[in-house]
Amino acid sequence: MSLADVTFLPEDPAHDHEIDDINADAFGPGRFAKAAYKIREGGPHERGLSFVALHEGRVVASVRLTRLVAGEGEALLLGPLAVRPAYKNRGIGKKLVHIALDAAREAGSGVVILVGDEPYYGPLGFKRVPNGQLAMPRPVDPNRLLASELKEGALAELQGEVMHAALARKSAVETA
Ligand SMILES: CC(C)(COP(=O)(O)OP(=O)(O)OC[C@H]1O[C@@H](n2cnc3c(N)ncnc32)[C@H](O)[C@@H]1OP(=O)(O)O)[C@@H](O)C(=O)NCCC(=O)NCCS
Repeated sequence: MSLADVTFLPEDPAHDHEIDDINADAFGPGRFAKAAYKIREGGPHERGLSFVALHEGRVVASVRLTRLVAGEGEALLLGPLAVRPAYKNRGIGKKLVHIALDAAREAGSGVVILVGDEPYYGPLGFKRVPNGQLAMPRPVDPNRLLASELKEGALAELQGEVMHAALARKSAVETA
């Protein structure tokens, strides 16, 4: 199997069950305690900006993007990104990140953030978010809070408490 045998497609609700399995396998029960999971609990992910890799009709990898806000800024949260163990190290993860970043750019997003390993995401264009700039809903190793700026200045607009965009809209309506 090579990368050429893999098809990359926007996510569809029919993929949900397989995506859940892949994420459960990749991250285990600990995934529910993560800061990124807490943000994603605030609302849905962006179906149109989330992608799967298919091989012989089966979902073998997935990446999702979720809208968030922090201060005056808006961003997309990348993750979970996971590849079935038998399909690792063939370039599928990197290709999904490239596809997600292109989709984010095309959708007009200024910045994509994630919590992940800098050695993996650094070569894909992600840099550390300056210490103290963002307050995540759960503790995060600051070395793992990374951003890829798609429009100059978009990262600087992200300040303070990070939350799902839908949750921020809901609280704005409730306090109006
Ligand atoms: C991390 C993950 C998405 C990478 O996907 P993949 O398709 O196997 O990776 P790719 O083929 O795109 O890239 C492989 C390269 O990345 C490196 N790599 C993989 N995971 C890495 C990590 N956590 N840190 C640094 N490098 C890593 C591999 O060693 C390999 O290096 P090489 O090209 O020099 O040989 C996949 O291993 C996975 O699903 N892991 C479990 C879930 C996870 O950790 N997700 C990311 C957290 S947000």
